[in-house]
Amino acid sequence: MNELVTKINKLKKEKNAVILAHCYQNVEIDEVADFVGDSLYLSQMAAKTSADIILFAGVYFMAQTAKILNPAKKVLLPRLESGCRMADMISLNQLREFKRENPDIPAVCYINSTAEVKSECDICCTSSNAIKIVDSLKSEKVLFLPDTYLGKWVEKQLGNVKVITYPGFCPTHLQIRPEDISNARKQYPDALVLSHPECHHTVTELSDYVGSTTGIMKYAAESKNKSFIIATEKGVVDRLKRDYPEKEFILIKDNIICPNMKWHNLIDIYNSLEKEEHEINVDSNIAEKALKCINRMLEVSK
Ligand code: 13P
Ligand code: SF4
Repeated sequence: MNELVTKINKLKKEKNAVILAHCYQNVEIDEVADFVGDSLYLSQMAAKTSADIILFAGVYFMAQTAKILNPAKKVLLPRLESGCRMADMISLNQLREFKRENPDIPAVCYINSTAEVKSECDICCTSSNAIKIVDSLKSEKVLFLPDTYLGKWVEKQLGNVKVITYPGFCPTHLQIRPEDISNARKQYPDALVLSHPECHHTVTELSDYVGSTTGIMKYAAESKNKSFIIATEKGVVDRLKRDYPEKEFILIKDNIICPNMKWHNLIDIYNSLEKEEHEINVDSNIAEKALKCINRMLEVSK
């Protein structure tokens, strides 16, 4: 394994490549990653990089976003199978229909969406800045897509905006049920429950803290508490256990794994860098419009 890490690092240097990895990736990928974090952090790093090649250890929409931000650079996704089931829940035609049914209302798309969908939205957001982004529109009503649970969570936090949501969801996070939280609390009475806003509202309502993947990691790191029940993807728990061995982290359920995030391994990363595949490209007309939507988010998130 170490030999592979050395070979990848050598290739990175030779090709002036950077590796961005999401916190839900297989944890060994961190050994070769230049940046590891949530979707917002990774898009900020993608916007800043001076590398010639960006290898994205994440899902398709993340690599697409990196390409939109860097049209002149080569963006690689080691395994093309790594899509996002939530992003696939809304097509451009479905977005147009949603907007037709709710005319003259600004549309916020979650970064977990295709480039085509971003190209016809006003602004995008991630789970860590969704409240700030919706609030920045200063509108009484906002369309939010595709994640209905993140949208409704934002509506509740703001209290003064009607958030009209598209009925999309994350199949991984929706496996977590409120009874899982109450059972875990009974078993670990001293633990705090930290959940992701993609979870069902009956789960976030029972949580002590709700936030993005790095929001959860930061909260656990800074809290004086020693024990945490984690209601999000397993990759977050793997990293917390590695980084804070003195604390206890309990994954809410064994099977909270996003299969699409887990496609890439170190061999795939080596092959991808070596062969420079699979290159992600975005139609230039779509990319130009989607860039406005992404840049507007980056501007508000500064
Ligand atoms: P973050 O914004 O927390 O990185 O979440 C992305 C994601 O796909 C969660 O399912
Ligand atoms: Fe998409 Fe859910 Fe996987 Fe995140 S966890 S990439 S929202 S399917």
